[in-house]
Amino acid sequence: MIQYKSPREIKLMREAGKLVAGSLELVKKMVRPGIKTMDLDRTVEKYVLARRGELAFKGYRGYPGNICVSINEEVVHGIPDENRVLKEGDIVSIDVGVKYKNYYGDAALTLPVGRISAAAQKLLTVTETVLTKAIDHLAPEVKLSDVSAVIQNFVEKNGFSVVRSFVGHGIGSTMHEEPQVPNYVMPPGEGAEVILKPGLVLALEPMVNTGTSDVEVLGNSWTVVTKDRKLSAHFEHTAAVTGNGSEILTRPA
Ligand code: MF3
Ligand code: CO
Repeated sequence: MIQYKSPREIKLMREAGKLVAGSLELVKKMVRPGIKTMDLDRTVEKYVLARRGELAFKGYRGYPGNICVSINEEVVHGIPDENRVLKEGDIVSIDVGVKYKNYYGDAALTLPVGRISAAAQKLLTVTETVLTKAIDHLAPEVKLSDVSAVIQNFVEKNGFSVVRSFVGHGIGSTMHEEPQVPNYVMPPGEGAEVILKPGLVLALEPMVNTGTSDVEVLGNSWTVVTKDRKLSAHFEHTAAVTGNGSEILTRPA
């Protein structure tokens, strides 16, 4: 069942979202060649705990990290590692989830490490832009499948592909709620249509690949990589449907 949030609940989600956004702002300043992915994890952990938030991913279905750090061909769910060092030319996706006063915020971005190729830069720009377009499309009475279509069409028009095995999601007092938010239009009959209403809060998270849309999971049973090992990018925001449009809840203050 879809849980619509009251203004009081949205307010709490805004606070959770602020901790997520603050974490991503911190990480943005840290990412450079030579830094270890575990350094990012520890910094976010300290930041969130100091503000009385909880790290939503830690222990979720046994996930070992505080955040997800996914490099290059890694799509999502990369596990922070003491021995993994970012290098010039990498792209790195950082995903942060925070629980605050029983409500969740979830957001991600993908950053360049030093100078990156023009192709990698295009991937980042297209993925970030498509997230903005999807959020801008949120409004009462809009069909959720139209939001998916906006994402898929823009990505494919730019020569990239959208991951199908992982989707965005409703979010609130649990991290993953109904509805699922695919980044592609599902075949007719698969999945009921959802009409957006005020109070619906969604984590929109396009995952965009330069090559095939197919992915697989590595032997650590978490890290998702592209099947062809080509680059992938991921941007995510938690956004609420309002009376006349949408509000991003994971926006930096
Ligand atoms: N943003 C991701 C999601 O919504 C992150 C989950 S990572 C996990 O599913 F470790 F918690 F699974
Ligand atoms: Co998410």
